[in-house]
Amino acid sequence: EQDPRWTAVDHYSLSHLHPASRTTPSPATLEHARANTEKEGLPDIAVAPSQGKFLKLQAQLVKAKNILEVGTLGGYSTIWLASASPDVKVTTVEVNSHHASVARANLEHAAVADRVDIKLGAGIDVLPQLAEEVRAGKRDKFQLVFIDADKENNWNYVDTAIGMVDPGSVIIVDNVVRKGQLPNEKGDAGVQGARKVVENVGRDERLDGVVVQTVGEKNYDGFLIAVVK
Ligand code: DHB
Ligand code: MG
Repeated sequence: EQDPRWTAVDHYSLSHLHPASRTTPSPATLEHARANTEKEGLPDIAVAPSQGKFLKLQAQLVKAKNILEVGTLGGYSTIWLASASPDVKVTTVEVNSHHASVARANLEHAAVADRVDIKLGAGIDVLPQLAEEVRAGKRDKFQLVFIDADKENNWNYVDTAIGMVDPGSVIIVDNVVRKGQLPNEKGDAGVQGARKVVENVGRDERLDGVVVQTVGEKNYDGFLIAVVK
């Protein structure tokens, strides 16, 4: 299933576009996070390096000051997002306390821990609390939201995030293509979570979205990208 051309293109292009010199996060920092996450027994489901770079560039395009991530895992995508600028702040939500402590160690090693706030809890509980703090003026709005957690709640997270962002912000949902199963009405729970978020974004007047299919080291999948009007 994995086509060797996909990894070859990722390795070739990143070696030129994200070389060890003059880049942040450094390939060594990223590799440390990946290896430590594996050593600590977490699943190998973080975004691929090229996807992490894509997230960093998206954050730069919207000039993000505050970023919200749902689903920290070992903090690999968090490190990419935190590297968008030296003063960007990331709030990241993780339900699993072991994952959160591995992420904290990885973020410290990457020297971004002081700009990342890990909220321990389920997104479905934590996001409404954050939304209330934003509504009450106790928390700054976000400009980029990356959703990469329990797929069944994808739409819930997008819907809640809309109330927490500035106009022109971007909401990105990971893993909506699912090896091409997105159009399958009879797909599994992950496919249903992807279909619900695609269909609801499509009928929501507050959003304008597109699915970008990706291949590479993490096989065939893709992002839903939505701009908040
Ligand atoms: C799974 C979750 C992810 O967020 C991902 O990027 C890949 C796989 C999973 O739950 O299997
Ligand atoms: Mg994912």
